[in-house]
Amino acid sequence: MSTASPAGLQKYGLVAQAFHWLVALLLLGLLITNVLRSSAAEGSDAFMFWLGLHMSFGILVFVLTFARIFWAKFTPPPELLDAPQWSVLAAKAAHVLLNLSTLVIPVFGYLRIASKDIPANFFGLPVPSLVGEQPWLHHVMEIFHGTPMAIYLVSLVGLHIAAALWHQYVRKDHALERMLPWSPPGA
Ligand code: HEM
Ligand code: HEM
Repeated sequence: MSTASPAGLQKYGLVAQAFHWLVALLLLGLLITNVLRSSAAEGSDAFMFWLGLHMSFGILVFVLTFARIFWAKFTPPPELLDAPQWSVLAAKAAHVLLNLSTLVIPVFGYLRIASKDIPANFFGLPVPSLVGEQPWLHHVMEIFHGTPMAIYLVSLVGLHIAAALWHQYVRKDHALERMLPWSPPGA
């Protein structure tokens, strides 16, 4: 618990915090494994290794997001901080979009590989293709699970991080502390 937090600051519970930071860490891992895969020769052992890890992290993000939404239904999060109405609405929309994205993007990733009739990989376990070879679907997924999706997700997360820092350090309303078990520097 933070010592600098004002008395009565309503925080997210430790489980909600764990889900939040695990998903954030895995998203970073997904982008890193993607860069490492692209720098390996296509079809090489290194390529397959990084792609396998990418798929495993992605499936984990999907499972964790499901669990996170389920958990929030039974242990409701604290009310959003007092702020202008547009800002509260933007925060609510961003949180819904972030959770929706971490559910839908892995499904598109699965469909990107499954539409080539290749099984996905979850830490060495094959996840069979349920759709078989579908060139048109593969083409669509190269867009929905391709560079446009990456730009969308990085922008959304970037805005979310900027908003969190703005709350914490400009509005000084201790927003970041609500998602941390300790006080961040400068709080
Ligand atoms: C939130 C989760 C995920 C994120 C953020 C993510 C992100 C990305 C990104 C940025 C790319 C590169 C796109 C491009 O520039 O063409 C990519 C490629 C890919 N992803 Fe994901 N991904 C996720 C989950 C998954 C999952 C769950 C699977 C499969 C089960 C998967 C399979 C793939 C495949 C097959 C590629 C193409 C690799 C290639 O070019 O050979 N992804 N992903
Ligand atoms: C350095 C990165 C990040 C920072 C600093 C950050 C910060 C925060 C903070 C401070 C809150 C609490 C807002 C409040 O006071 O009500 C929050 C909530 C939330 N964040 Fe992040 N966040 C980061 C990354 C992410 C990522 C990558 C996602 C992607 C899924 C995400 C999704 C959410 C969601 C859905 C909520 C609403 C609460 C919940 O459902 O757990 N955040 N974030």
